[in-house]
Amino acid sequence: MPKLNVVTREGKETEVDGEAGHSVMEVIRDNGFDELLALCGGCCSCATCHVHVDPEFMVKLPKMSEDEDDLLDSSEHRNEYSRLSCQIPFGPDLDGLRVRIAPED
Ligand code: FES
Repeated sequence: MPKLNVVTREGKETEVDGEAGHSVMEVIRDNGFDELLALCGGCCSCATCHVHVDPEFMVKLPKMSEDEDDLLDSSEHRNEYSRLSCQIPFGPDLDGLRVRIAPED
């Protein structure tokens, strides 16, 4: 199973198994990280699944949609590595992906 490395807001890093076909948000949530609220359940309408992606993986991610881009603009913590984790499908191609849960807005 592909691995996902999750860094919490306190900086604690944990490696978890990720179900291929799930989104990165679902993998994080299903592994019990309740600080990632993901309030809209993955509909790209809340931005509470905001993560900062390890720079080396940015090129492997699908292109950001206009909706995701607009939503991220509402976050004070947006940076060049920001993505909404519900918009990233997880799978073997992203094995070893490292994401940090963004600070709460
Ligand atoms: S879970 Fe709401 S935008 Fe990702």
